[in-house]
Amino acid sequence: MATTVSHTFAPDLSPIAIRNFSKERYVSPEWLERERTDLWATSWLVAGVACDVREAGQFITFDIGAESIIIARGADRLLRAMHNTCTHRGTKLVTEPMGSLRKFVCPYHAWVYGLDGSLESVPGAARFSNGVPREKLGLRPVEVEEALGLIFVRLTPGALSLADFLAPLHEAIGTYRLDLMDVTNDQTVSHLCNWKAIIDNFAELYHVPFLHPIHRRMFDCATAPIALFDHGHTAVYVEGGVTDSGFPTPEVPSDMQAMQLEAFGLDPADYRGLVGAIRPALQRAKRALAGEQGLAYDSFTDAQLTDVWQFNLFPNVILSVTPESAWLMRSRPDVTDPGRSILDMITLVRFHGEESPEAAGSDEADGARIGTHFRLNGPRPADYIRPPRDAFTHEDIIAGRKTMTVTIDEDISLLGRVQQGMASRGFDSVWLSDEECRVQHFHDALDASLGA
Ligand code: FES
Repeated sequence: MATTVSHTFAPDLSPIAIRNFSKERYVSPEWLERERTDLWATSWLVAGVACDVREAGQFITFDIGAESIIIARGADRLLRAMHNTCTHRGTKLVTEPMGSLRKFVCPYHAWVYGLDGSLESVPGAARFSNGVPREKLGLRPVEVEEALGLIFVRLTPGALSLADFLAPLHEAIGTYRLDLMDVTNDQTVSHLCNWKAIIDNFAELYHVPFLHPIHRRMFDCATAPIALFDHGHTAVYVEGGVTDSGFPTPEVPSDMQAMQLEAFGLDPADYRGLVGAIRPALQRAKRALAGEQGLAYDSFTDAQLTDVWQFNLFPNVILSVTPESAWLMRSRPDVTDPGRSILDMITLVRFHGEESPEAAGSDEADGARIGTHFRLNGPRPADYIRPPRDAFTHEDIIAGRKTMTVTIDEDISLLGRVQQGMASRGFDSVWLSDEECRVQHFHDALDASLGA
């Protein structure tokens, strides 16, 4: 029996005043510097995902502009963050994006720090006539908190608590339990555009039917509800299993809808003239399959079973979530050039239950019991390993040597041209539509952060 749970999440759809702001924020070194001092140094920032620091000794590093932060779980299981900077002569201690160890050892003169940042040993300490006051020379601490399966840091303490910062989104994102997910892909690409051009791109669907035509055949971007929240966060809820209502409704299912139906053992021929019935049919089929496999899908609404919900966390993170998986994208500035940035993309998957030979080999595990080809995620595979970070350039994407999915590749291929055009004397300011109000909302929050 299908269970439908109505969620209590209530987006704020109040109208927003559209402004047409100047291009300086994308191209000027002065803006880059203002963002360094008044945005990155003062905002709550997503430093990584919680599953990478579940165990004692695990650490991640997070670079934002000129700053580098280590986040490590100590032997006491407490999570701490600290500047990735040796207090002797400033050497960057760790260059790996993540790992597991018991001490941090500076490669220059071998000062040793504990996972809690305390200075533990100094070779030749007797030769420091000024002494080695260890209580002063620990790694400089940084504020850190864990929430929603993510690790947040803030370089400068402020009045806004993380709980208050995330309050508008906490319930809606919390349902997806990112804290129970594992990383299955980790990519980072250097790009030739300002970091905000990436955020803008993921804050509007206006471009989707044109740059990503495949989406017309499985999503309805034209009517996707938009939500604007306090602190600069936004959301959009995109119906899946449908066709774009901005275009004529087809008589027969699109190729993408047919693939989705067949994956659940449903015959596309049964939906001739009934394309509008496909989305609820897919929802019923997925809920039935989840019930067959004993998976906890009761906390999800029917809409959440087919749709993609995307949350933009101010200032620089985009989360696209489904019950089975999530994409975390994060745009970071280049410290030297407003026309360059770094886009990180982490894929998270929710494995269900513990690995067992019985579950892994059963009909229930592969969906055969109800005759489908669609697989809900089973237990974490016994040979699962967290993939290493794959770093490359946007040229690798354009040349086809790397991919971040067809859709993201299309975005990346275009955004360099956006930056080129913005730098031109032929362009002064952006001209936004109402449909791009999430872009406006983001920039309003940015201006507030910068006191602009
Ligand atoms: Fe790190 Fe000297 S700079 S030990």
